[in-house]
Amino acid sequence: MSVSGEQLVELALVARQNAYARYSNYTVGAALIDDQGHVHTGCNVENAAYPLGNCAEAAAIAAMVNAGGRRIVAIAVVGGKGDVGACTPCGGCRQRIQEFADDDTTIIVHDDSEGWRTYTIAELLPASFHLI
Ligand code: THU
Repeated sequence: MSVSGEQLVELALVARQNAYARYSNYTVGAALIDDQGHVHTGCNVENAAYPLGNCAEAAAIAAMVNAGGRRIVAIAVVGGKGDVGACTPCGGCRQRIQEFADDDTTIIVHDDSEGWRTYTIAELLPASFHLI
């Protein structure tokens, strides 16, 4: 990959700075690299009508698709209230990542105290749903 895991985490931390999380105060940033070598980022955007809030991963994936990307090589996710804790993608975002993942897709989760660790989508979403 042309961008390292550490760089992807750094880009996710930058994206997190723009998070709009006035209801939960839990700010999240995501940064992914696609199979064209392009990086896309996103942050969570909450809403007074709570269910309308969007996750950071959804925003990064939407940016990738809008730019023509169709495969996630790696995605870094960072989130927390203040310090960055282990913000593993929520269930919905695991399915969102699955849509654009392959067996080699790497999910990087950074934690300020533990450092970062990587997962495959199969680890986070075993026996996942596929239409075909
Ligand atoms: N959130 C994300 O952005 N991604 C996840 O994978 C987990 C949760 C956001 C949604 C909401 O704005 C806040 O974190 C607290 O749930």
